Amino acid sequence: AGSLKGRDFLSLKDFSREEIFYLLDLADDLKAKLKKREPHPLLAGKTLGMIFTKRSTRTRVSFEVGMYQLGGYPLFLTKDDLQLGRGETIADTARVLSRYLDGIMIRTYSHREVEELAEYASIPVINGLTDFLHPTQALADIMTIREWKGKLQGLNLTFIGDGNNVAHSLMYGGAKVGLNVTIACPSGYEPMPQVVEEARRIAAGNGCQIAVTNNIKEAAEGADILYTDVWASMGQEDEAEKRRQAFRKYQINSELLKLAKPDAMVLHCLPAHRGEEITDEVMDGPQSAVFDEAENRLHAHKAIMVALMG
Ligand code: CP
Ligand code: NVA
Repeated sequence: AGSLKGRDFLSLKDFSREEIFYLLDLADDLKAKLKKREPHPLLAGKTLGMIFTKRSTRTRVSFEVGMYQLGGYPLFLTKDDLQLGRGETIADTARVLSRYLDGIMIRTYSHREVEELAEYASIPVINGLTDFLHPTQALADIMTIREWKGKLQGLNLTFIGDGNNVAHSLMYGGAKVGLNVTIACPSGYEPMPQVVEEARRIAAGNGCQIAVTNNIKEAAEGADILYTDVWASMGQEDEAEKRRQAFRKYQINSELLKLAKPDAMVLHCLPAHRGEEITDEVMDGPQSAVFDEAENRLHAHKAIMVALMG
């Protein structure tokens, strides 16, 4: 897919099914090379700016290490370091950074700001999480599902919790690759209707379905994959207590896991609030793939960078 060169990676919605499978195959290939300790300096001499206005463990470390493994150079930039923090516009920041760098990865609050950065940058912009989407996460999640299950088409992925950025990207990504995605959330915390509609349209063309329900038991029954995320995302700290009440029953525990298929796998984008959305027993149990999933961020991110910036 030479067509990926120079593109932005803002949402999985923007990529065809074939392009997503190309990225998944490339990620598998880069993973195999790393395991064999085979050098793969596919981005030698290239630079990636990484702008963060929110915390990160996995995204930051995997992009930074990934760039190093590819022979390139990553720059970690917080908003406080950049003049962006003193009022320089996003457009001017994009124009200037495009003169130095070969790509930008950004994690911030507003999705619109990331779109604006991409609009004014002449280099690829990668969305490392916004309040709306988390597409690099979903790519690594799909990679992990395929690795554990050997296929994707027709599998049932049930997401338990908040209809948030992670849920949105799983809906878009799942719809593209043939997963039946069910979001089970408390009333009032549903995914955005626009995302549900768009994901349904995409799913219809790929032989799968998208569902939203408040009933977690029904949603867990027959699931191949149970997925969860924190009840309060970054930026929602003020709502934490209210959300703790609303989500009390929306937990992946042993009892819920029993309702899924016997060979169901469990995913969590991490960081986890153990004892809230997931119990220790499940997270540390044999059906948990959460640390494979975290590892696969590295391989998936390298695939994205190679495809866009190579
Ligand atoms: N899952 C994820 O994006 O983790 P970080 O917030 O640590 O990057
Ligand atoms: N929904 C979480 C995901 C963290 C990786 C958040 O936005 O904080």
